[in-house]
Amino acid sequence: MKIDGTPYRSVWVDQEDGWTIRIFDQTRLPWALEILRLSTVAQAAHAIRTMQARGAPLIGAVAAYGLCLALRADPSRDAMERDAAMLREARPTAVNLAWAIDRMLAALRQVPDASRSRAAYAEAAAIADEDVAQCEAIGRHGVAMIEAIARRKSGPVNLLTHCNAGWLATVDWGTALAPMYMAHERGIDLHVWVDETRPRNQGALLTTWELGRHGVPHTMVVDNAGGHLMQHGQVDMVIVGADRVARSGDVANKIGTYLKALAAHDNGVPFWVAAPSSTIDWAISDGVTGIPIEERPATEVTVMTGRALDGAVLPVRIVPTATPAANPAFDVTPARLVTGLITERGCCAANPAALARLFPEYA
Ligand code: MRU
Repeated sequence: MKIDGTPYRSVWVDQEDGWTIRIFDQTRLPWALEILRLSTVAQAAHAIRTMQARGAPLIGAVAAYGLCLALRADPSRDAMERDAAMLREARPTAVNLAWAIDRMLAALRQVPDASRSRAAYAEAAAIADEDVAQCEAIGRHGVAMIEAIARRKSGPVNLLTHCNAGWLATVDWGTALAPMYMAHERGIDLHVWVDETRPRNQGALLTTWELGRHGVPHTMVVDNAGGHLMQHGQVDMVIVGADRVARSGDVANKIGTYLKALAAHDNGVPFWVAAPSSTIDWAISDGVTGIPIEERPATEVTVMTGRALDGAVLPVRIVPTATPAANPAFDVTPARLVTGLITERGCCAANPAALARLFPEYA
């Protein structure tokens, strides 16, 4: 995706030194566009934990490159296993992280120490390139549905999305936003309702920034507005991303997704989940009991950061000092509320048989 005409990915190897890793500091957006330089595995793990890099596919790619940094410092197999375990622990819900680490270890265990670091960079680059191709394919499959809606109605196609499942959350294109970017490129009259996505406001801060940069018409709404909009015919389709899809079709995504699915179900609004195969956990059959839900610090709920009218970016406490807060970061939408999944291999119903038809190698 382009920023001011320059194409970027969300993670890349520095072209000048050929080994350090570059990411945008997503905790600074949209107030500042800051590029971070990661030169140690500890910095990569820190970036994932603190959500400087966030979004399921992106944390997988950053973890893969983090392992490259580890191997550059110490290519031994013992050190690799230790650092891989440390990276894997950085965040629990998005399965892309463990998937990327497992793939790196499988590719690198039998490689001699002397060439392990070089092989690691090649495997991480393959993970990143495949993510771009998969997200582009998700865009192509998803845009067909948006086109179909546009053909049967007058006025803009109104979509609703939750959190940020755009190019910042992947290596490029995004998952839920890829069909929207393609629809916009094809000249379809389109409008996106963007949920603010408390507590960290990834919708308000990141999705609005992305869509705005690309000229996609959008309106931010508070998280609680979705049901009202759907009840009044103002949402043609919901598209969200996912952090982990169980083989049953249950979907873990940012907290609040489940409530959107309930409202969509009650109002007959199609509720689609865009996810590459790296987000599918074939080992879990019941998402509600099986998917680990990350509990994040209470301060993400009690303190908000915004730009004061004088321009300073400030944290502000929004509840009384003594009030405790809980912060489950994800929820699970049962498959029965999901109209279907948009994957790189096409769209399918959210059930084990339909998933197995698209991905027979995992069935
Ligand atoms: O906590 P985050 O910001 O990493 O959560 C991100 C989401 O929930 C996204 O919707 C999901 O990862 C899909 S990203 C393409």
